[in-house]
Amino acid sequence: MVMTQDELKQAVAKTAADYVAAHLPIGGIVGVGTGSTANFFIDELAKLKARVGATVASSEATKKRLEGHGMKVLDLNEVGSMPVYVDGADEITAKLEMIKGGGGALTREKIVAAVADRFICVCDQSKLVDTLGKFPLPVEVVPMARAHVARELVKLGGQPRLREGLVTDNGNVILDVHGLAIGDPAGLETAINQIVGVVSNGLFAKRPADLLLLATPEGVRMLTA
Ligand code: 5RP
Repeated sequence: MVMTQDELKQAVAKTAADYVAAHLPIGGIVGVGTGSTANFFIDELAKLKARVGATVASSEATKKRLEGHGMKVLDLNEVGSMPVYVDGADEITAKLEMIKGGGGALTREKIVAAVADRFICVCDQSKLVDTLGKFPLPVEVVPMARAHVARELVKLGGQPRLREGLVTDNGNVILDVHGLAIGDPAGLETAINQIVGVVSNGLFAKRPADLLLLATPEGVRMLTA
């Protein structure tokens, strides 16, 4: 069957909402990611409004969409525990290590994911890769450190490019790092975080996903590492 990318995203979003409906304790809190796949998930999650206690948003855009559906959105600081976080990815491997941040929300996504017990990644099959790095790695940077961080990223073997016209929800800029073939995702994640001026980077290897829901024309596959 031929399915469009949007139909694949819709299918995986529905599966993720079914997963939440089956596993979330009544009144539990759901962390919600950012991007087009996450948007489909938000629309499905809204149908579970009576069951979901509240949500935590990983971006202002996600907050707006959740509130548009009449869903309660909490500040993360008000939340003691979160059973599940659902988000997309730009690339993901069979180990469920990811590159994220194509939408520029990597820092808040990483923070919300850190609080969640389980990270459910929702992707269409185009996102599954053998090696991370074909998708340029987003790095969020304090604006005054942009040139310094760019020079340090070149030393790590990348070609950083400023994402023109984007200011993150945290008031920072994004450098997209091209030309990386990432053999040691957790090592590179740590190395980039050591550069002064880096807020966070889009490698999610030290805290990978726990479950990948991967949309294919034959159905949604469930993969664990
Ligand atoms: C946003 C992200 C997204 O999860 C990632 O870019 C995938 O987005 P989409 O579902 O639109 O392909 O990390 O910062």
